[in-house]
Amino acid sequence: MQASAQPTPICDPAQVAPILLGWYDANARHLPWRIVPGGSGADPYRVWLSEVMLQQTTVAAVGPYFVKFTTRWPTVTDLAAADDADVMAAWAGLGYYARARNLLACARAVAERGGTFPDTEEALRALPGLGEYTAAAVAAIAFGRRAVVVDANVERVVARLFAIEEPLPAAKPAIRLATGQITPDSHAGDFAQAMMDLGATICTARSPRCMLCPLRTHCRAQAEGAPERLPVKAAKKPKPTRTGHTYWIERDGAVLLVQRPSRGMLGGMRALPDDGWSARSDGNGGLPGAWQKGGVVRHSFTHFDLEMQLMLCGPAELDNLPAGEWWPIEQIEAAGLPTVFAKAARLAIAERDT
Ligand code: ADE
Repeated sequence: MQASAQPTPICDPAQVAPILLGWYDANARHLPWRIVPGGSGADPYRVWLSEVMLQQTTVAAVGPYFVKFTTRWPTVTDLAAADDADVMAAWAGLGYYARARNLLACARAVAERGGTFPDTEEALRALPGLGEYTAAAVAAIAFGRRAVVVDANVERVVARLFAIEEPLPAAKPAIRLATGQITPDSHAGDFAQAMMDLGATICTARSPRCMLCPLRTHCRAQAEGAPERLPVKAAKKPKPTRTGHTYWIERDGAVLLVQRPSRGMLGGMRALPDDGWSARSDGNGGLPGAWQKGGVVRHSFTHFDLEMQLMLCGPAELDNLPAGEWWPIEQIEAAGLPTVFAKAARLAIAERDT
């Protein structure tokens, strides 16, 4: 299908929303950031925070982080006043750390406006770091605006409903157009979340449970007999493997941690020192010193796989110590290391204990 072609559903598109909203009333998942279907008074801060956290991350992984953030920073003004390092550490493990930096920039912009989020998609989009998806989701879910909200679950449901054969990502405009055709004028927030829940629980990627689907008789892919085929995805480029080193430097029960530069991978996060590996290049082989070789940490990032050699020594064996802070090893969990360095720290602790 051409991106410009009007995708056609098997039925009147206006029938989809009432059916789905009825299904959502009875089947909405109970999630910590949600209010009941049809309810009013959603807190824009909680909606915004959850939508930022949920990008690229599963509902199950987000739950504890959402509770931690809203307990520690109950309002957007509280979050705006937080130390960058505390927020980055609290985010550790959720990945895609640019989101945490954007989160803070956005919270501070909202605090400057008196702590009130703007209530239209366009004005939300003007806040720093707040993208197209988040603006639509917050406008619809927090403010009841009609907005077309398309995440990966919605993409899958719509590609099937309309049997959109074009592979992703090229199919995105056609999917957005089709989603627009079925988005209702009111209850767009419930509608968006109903689509997400349908995608997460019934219209699943591999084995859709079409027998349970309220839209079964409206779905072109189901009528054609093989809904799991859709959406078609363009073949992914193979990921390169990068190599690098990381250093465990220990003194009197403490380990040396550095703060990564604010720009670039894992920017602003606390970390073990490393030799400068990145998505584009291997590390430079790194710090001279009397190192003892530890194990290898393997970690998969979006655009590359990393094999990072762990090196261990005490500071006496080093000429030039990197600038950093000595962190008590028994409190390493509280350092807020991103996952790749948390893995390295666990390995180092296990290796020095054996
Ligand atoms: N994924 C992204 N936003 C969501 C939401 N509001 N509910 C469930 N899953 C989601």
